[in-house]
Amino acid sequence: MTAGSRLGRWMFFGVIALITLWFVAALALPWLQRERSKPGRAFSEKVIGDALHPVIIRTPEGMALVDSGKKDAKGQAVMVACATCHDTRDPNYKIDQGEALQEFHKGLNYQHGSLTCLSCHNANDYNSLKKADGQSLEFSQSMQLCSQCHGPQFRDYQNGSHGGMTGHWDLRQGSRERNTCTDCHDPHHPKYPLVLPVFPPKPVIGEAILPVDQSHPH
Ligand code: HEC
Ligand code: HEC
Ligand code: HEC
Ligand code: HEC
Repeated sequence: MTAGSRLGRWMFFGVIALITLWFVAALALPWLQRERSKPGRAFSEKVIGDALHPVIIRTPEGMALVDSGKKDAKGQAVMVACATCHDTRDPNYKIDQGEALQEFHKGLNYQHGSLTCLSCHNANDYNSLKKADGQSLEFSQSMQLCSQCHGPQFRDYQNGSHGGMTGHWDLRQGSRERNTCTDCHDPHHPKYPLVLPVFPPKPVIGEAILPVDQSHPH
């Protein structure tokens, strides 16, 4: 046996030994450190007290404004409050579809049962909304508006099974944030847009690719 082939064999077994050591170490190290990664400790070093953090419900933006179509000196759109025009106009209780709007608010995408505009908007003060009992309601409180007609969904929302949430499940660890109805539903066409939950299956070679309906945003 030559010196060269002996050296070659030593190197071969040496490399095998190194690889084996590597695997053993990869298994043994976490096992040796297992005390440090007990469940519930791995991701949070915080001491959990009994105090509960708040559940924050996002509020919609305050009063709605519309683009007047005019530009100011800096070229920015001039936004106006609703009452600017509506204080001097007679309310129209009949309008219940977007197509009926010819003078202003043209092209409003509207599809909400058979509600008229003034089922929700306050004919006595267009800067606010109106509850079923006639009381005025700030735009920022629109969840109350939705809830009076959609009791089951509001109940589900309160139970946490409708409307989603982010933040902490365990309120002792941190706060939780909840959406408001209009984060997901446009009040004027509230139907939730259709979504594609998964990528469509890849077509079999030779098969026609069906067009995906892109008319709904996401
Ligand atoms: C620049 C003037 C102007 C502003 C500002 C304005 N509107 Fe109007 N609005 C109109 C006109 C004009 C009509 C009637 C449109 C038609 O009948 O074709 C109208 C119609 C409406 C209607 C239908 C019922 C009715 O009384 O005619 C509602 C509801 C309404 N507006 C809500 C609002 C809200 C809410 C705002 C603020 C976010 C607002 N408007 C801002 C001019 C305005
Ligand atoms: C179900 C209640 C409801 C009905 C019905 C309704 N609105 Fe609204 N509208 C709202 C709410 C709530 C807002 C505040 C905007 C938001 O939170 O996204 C709003 C905002 C507006 C705005 C300002 C912002 C925007 O979207 O341009 C205008 C203008 C408006 N509505 C006009 C109308 C008109 C015209 C009708 C009837 C064709 C109508 N609304 C019917 C609830 C309603
Ligand atoms: C005055 C009562 C009333 C108010 C206020 C109201 N809705 Fe509705 N909503 C209805 C009616 C009626 C329907 C139609 C039900 C049907 O067709 O079965 C409807 C339908 C819906 C739908 C289902 C749409 C579809 O086509 O599947 C959603 C979502 C919805 N509303 C959300 C809202 C939200 C969000 C608000 C608050 C901005 C709101 N609603 C305020 C009465 C109301
Ligand atoms: C995180 C988004 C989100 C929020 C916030 C939300 N919804 Fe919905 N909502 C949905 C989705 C998604 C659907 C469609 C469910 C389906 O098609 O099965 C829906 C459906 C509805 C419907 C139609 C009936 C039904 O159950 O399918 C109504 C009415 C409704 N929501 C009312 C509300 C009200 C009132 C609020 C506020 C208290 C609210 N939603 C908040 C996402 C949301």
